[in-house]
Amino acid sequence: MEYRELIREALKYRENAYVPYSRFKVGAAVIMDDNKVYGGCNVENASFGATNCAERTAIFKAVSEGNKKLKAIAVVGDTSTYTAPCGICRQVIAEFGDENTDIIIIKNENDYKIKKLEDILPGAFTKEDINK
Ligand code: THU
Repeated sequence: MEYRELIREALKYRENAYVPYSRFKVGAAVIMDDNKVYGGCNVENASFGATNCAERTAIFKAVSEGNKKLKAIAVVGDTSTYTAPCGICRQVIAEFGDENTDIIIIKNENDYKIKKLEDILPGAFTKEDINK
């Protein structure tokens, strides 16, 4: 699958990052199983723990619009290298993704790597664990 559009969307949403504390802008974009795309950015808070990462902003936007199946998520930070999703975001990706979900870790528009959930959160705790 060609992810150029999703990557562009993540780069676009990075511009909206609200980062007065870290100054570290992050952008993300998700494509859901109905092919709808949602973008997100990190939104910080004076109470640092209330900060929301870009990935979760994008996923929560999609879920709140009724789209719960995550086909792919793209994420880009504010460095010249790759920015990997944080642990909390990996857990949220695990909630709405599956073994086929692509996690696109962007360095720049022409340089990115694609991972699967099992690569970034092996042995994840999921709803299946609760229903055992
Ligand atoms: N951040 C994200 O938005 N996504 C990640 O996966 C890593 C961290 C944000 C949170 C905070 O606003 C800033 O990057 C520095 O940690």
